[in-house]
Order: sequence, then structure tokens, then C-alpha cells
Amino acid sequence: MTKTRSLFLLLALLVASATARAADPPLPRLVQKDGRAALLVDGAPFLMLGAQVNNSSAWPGVLPQVWPAVKALHANTLEMPVYWEQLEPKQGSFDFSVVDTLVSESRKNGVHLVLLWFGTWKNGGVAYTPLWMKADPVKYPLMLAASGRPVGSASPFSVERLEADKRAFVALMGHLKKTDRQHTVLMVQVENESGTWGAIRDFSPAAQKAFGSPVPADVLAAMKATPSSPNATWKEAFGKNADELFHAWAVARFVGQVAAAGKAAYALPLYANAALRDPIAPGPPGSWESGGPTDDVLPIWKVEAPALDLLAPDIYMDDYAKVERVMELYRRPDNPLFIPEMGNAAVYAPYFFLALDHGTIGFSPFGVDYTRYANFPLGAKKMNEEALAPFAMNYELVAPMMRQLAQLTFDGKVHAVAEKRGTPVAAMEIGAWKVDVRYGLPQFGFGDKPPGNAEPIGRALVAEIGDNEFLVSGFHCRVDFQTGPAASAAGKQRQYLRVEEGTYDKGKFKFLRLWNGDQTDWGLNFTSMPQILHVTVGTY
Ligand code: DGJ
Repeated sequence: MTKTRSLFLLLALLVASATARAADPPLPRLVQKDGRAALLVDGAPFLMLGAQVNNSSAWPGVLPQVWPAVKALHANTLEMPVYWEQLEPKQGSFDFSVVDTLVSESRKNGVHLVLLWFGTWKNGGVAYTPLWMKADPVKYPLMLAASGRPVGSASPFSVERLEADKRAFVALMGHLKKTDRQHTVLMVQVENESGTWGAIRDFSPAAQKAFGSPVPADVLAAMKATPSSPNATWKEAFGKNADELFHAWAVARFVGQVAAAGKAAYALPLYANAALRDPIAPGPPGSWESGGPTDDVLPIWKVEAPALDLLAPDIYMDDYAKVERVMELYRRPDNPLFIPEMGNAAVYAPYFFLALDHGTIGFSPFGVDYTRYANFPLGAKKMNEEALAPFAMNYELVAPMMRQLAQLTFDGKVHAVAEKRGTPVAAMEIGAWKVDVRYGLPQFGFGDKPPGNAEPIGRALVAEIGDNEFLVSGFHCRVDFQTGPAASAAGKQRQYLRVEEGTYDKGKFKFLRLWNGDQTDWGLNFTSMPQILHVTVGTY
């Protein structure tokens, strides 16, 4: 090879590698507009059709029992724990082999990952902290109850514990930054349901000192508290809620510092999840997990943990009104809605549509794998394909148009309903149209007395895709457009101008047939079959 030729080849190689680097997909990130949110993946809105595995399923040898369930569900994102006890078996020495396998296997199986940092807190306890930490309770103290007895939950005032958690989390995030250039990992959850069960707050000497000190000004402002003195202590400022708010402050500050350190290493979206309190009738403080991001202390978490992009509800209450209220409480202009866990019993599946209506960036039933573990009564009695079916139909319907739907959601064009037990009709006001949804009707004939489905399995979705043009879909329901008040007052009647059924293929709508005659005379009837319509409506 001549000198010029080899120089030329070297140059070509350099240019190629620079282009490859420039072509690295951009970091996943959250964006907000007019109170709505999107998770950008490869630069465009992405809807996480999630599945979370059981707690002990993120081990290489167990993955063969995970993938068939993920496939059956049609999920595009898998949520898997990273166990601190596994990651740092000896203090300061990290074993990334398991994480690496989770990432590479996820790539092979064509799904993204959300990693869950099972660190200082897992459901309020210290079960996932490494043995070397558990063995040294003097250096890494637990919380003390009012009685002075230790509680099985980490003291948020332990600086040693905080520093150790930060180091491990930073190691994890730094490793992902180095090894996951293609961003298989979309988000990371910091801790799991942090807080404490069975004790309202820490009563250790450090905690007592802070509790008797003035409440930080940012907390007062966040809680809109105006005590008589700006130096009010927690008790003076918050009375009977003082213990709980204090613990939320302490835990949020700890988690916020872990999150900030991790984000500085690798700026992926981060979030913390909450074991909820009853959103309608919460009861007294202490009757829910204290300290975590429950709805009443979201403002405290926001100011103390700004490195967290969002606070997310784990929904294990199947009552419609409660689920709806939780979505309202966690969807805020400063908090994109993401549901990282939901019960996997059939009753929860239609709530995917309710979550879409609330602009969610992702949704995930919990306990999705075939390890034969079932968290009944929180979820289904048995986890198998049959249990997954009510969720799988949602994802199967939506997966091919996931990008479009995420963009439409970000643009505020998606409307959806889930059937509420005992309420066989629902209505959506969409621009000049009123869209009725009725449940339990036969497909043929008038529908003024819908009985509702025997179980509330109905769900419907209407997205605005053009002038008087809508994407319409659903299961177990009849959807019918009606003229809105102005057109009705002018004596106008609705007519379906064109109802196309089709499928989405690589994001493009492919025409299959026109619906007309019986298929439109009585409204648009949806069964358990995934069907997508493009509907143009007009008046006469
Ligand atoms: C909520 C937790 O976040 C999960 O890890 C799991 O323990 C479920 N509860 C119960 O199965």
C-alpha cells in the first residue's frame, strides 16, 4: 500500500468513526409543553408500554422465564431491579456483570429498560443493602422509633449510608454511560418505595435535633405554610402532621442527593416511586408508608429532590374513583405522569386507557414473568398468558402506532375512557363534537339503554388527527359521535362521511376496508379484536 493510500484510508476511518459518534442517538429526556409531557427517545415522543418483573427475577439465569411473558404482553419497555447487594458485594468493588446481561439481553429482545435502584430503601426496608452494610449497624444506623428501639428502615440522617449509596449509584450510572451508548436504558428509578412502614419518623439524636430546629424556608414555601414565626419548628409549623412532613423532608433530601450524584454522572431521566396513601380518604398520618412521595408531600419532594424528573404512583387499588384521583394528583405541570407499577389483575387493564387520557408517558403492570410467583391479592392469582391477555390487548393495539400516540398525547389530542362499574355510559367533549361511549350493548340496534359489561372491561380512545378527522379505537364498547351543542341548536345531524379500518405498520396507517351500513348505522362497535379506525365526521 502506498503512503498516500494508507493516509487516505486512515482519514476515511477517522471520518467514519466521528460520524458514528455524531450519530449516537440523543439521550432520552423529558420535555414539557402547556402542562403536558413527553419522554423523547431518539429525539421523538415515546410511550413506554411497560412490564415490571417480580422482585427476584432480574438475574441472568431467570431471564428465560421473563422473555416469553414480555413477548406475550407486547411490551416495549422492561422494568428490572438492580440489587445493591449484588452490585457491590465487597465495599468499593463493583460487579456489573448482571446489569450488562440485562442490557444486552434486552437489546436482543428488542425492548428498552427502566432500571430500578434497589438501594437504601426497598418498600421502606433495608433488605437490598449489601451484607457488609447490614453487618455494621453502628456505622450505618437504622431509624430509631420514639421508644428508642431500632426500626427496620434506614436512618435518613446517616451520612455514611448516604455517601455509600451515592457512590454505588454513581458507579452504576457511570457504567451505563460508558456501556449503553445506544440508550437501551431510558430511565432509572432511585430507590424503591422509599420511606418507612410502622414508624412515622426517625427519633435518632440527629433527627431529634433537626425536628427541634426551624423548618427550612423552602419547605414552608412549598407547603404554603405561614407559621407565626419564620423560625417555627416542625411541630409549631405543622402540628399533627409535623412528624410525617419531617420524615418526607428527610427521606426526600437523602434520595435527592443520591439522584443528583447519579445524574451528574449520567443525565438520564430519574424518578422515585410511591407506595400510595388512599387518595380520597387517607386516614391519619402513620396509616400509610411515611416519608415517601405520597400525594400530600409532593411539594416537599419537588424542592428537596430536584434531580428527580418525576414522582410516580404505584397503583394497587382497583377502585375507579381512586385510580382516577391518583392520576389527577400525580399529573401536574411540574410532574409528568408515569405509572411504573400497577396491579396485574384483569380489573386494572382498562386503566391503561384512563392513563392515556391523563397524558401518561408510560404504564406498567407489576409481576410480569413466568417464575410462578403471583402477588395475589394485589394482582392475579396466577401469572400466565391468560392473566396477561387483558393487558396484552392494550399493547398489541397501541404498539404499532406508539410513536404517533405519544406525539398526539404531547399535543393534547388524545382522549380516552375506561369503563366504571355501574356507569354504562361515558362522554367526551372533543372540539365541536360530543363522543358517547356505551358499554354492554349488542352490535346491532339502538343503544339508549346500555346495561354495561358484566365486568367493567370496556375502554375507548379518540385522538384528533385532522379537521373533523379522528383515530378511534377501543374494546368492548360502542363509540358514537354526536353533534355538539352549537350544531345541535342549529338543527344539524351528524353523519359519518368516511370510516376507514386499517392497521398501523411502521407508524403508517394502512387501509384495509371502509366501514358502512350495519357497521356504522348504530355507532362504531368494538369487541375484543384490536381494530383501528380513521373516522371523518360531518353534518347535514
Ligand atoms: C410495590 C413494590 O414497589 C414492588 O417491588 C413489590 O414489592 C410490590 N409492591 C408487591 O408485589
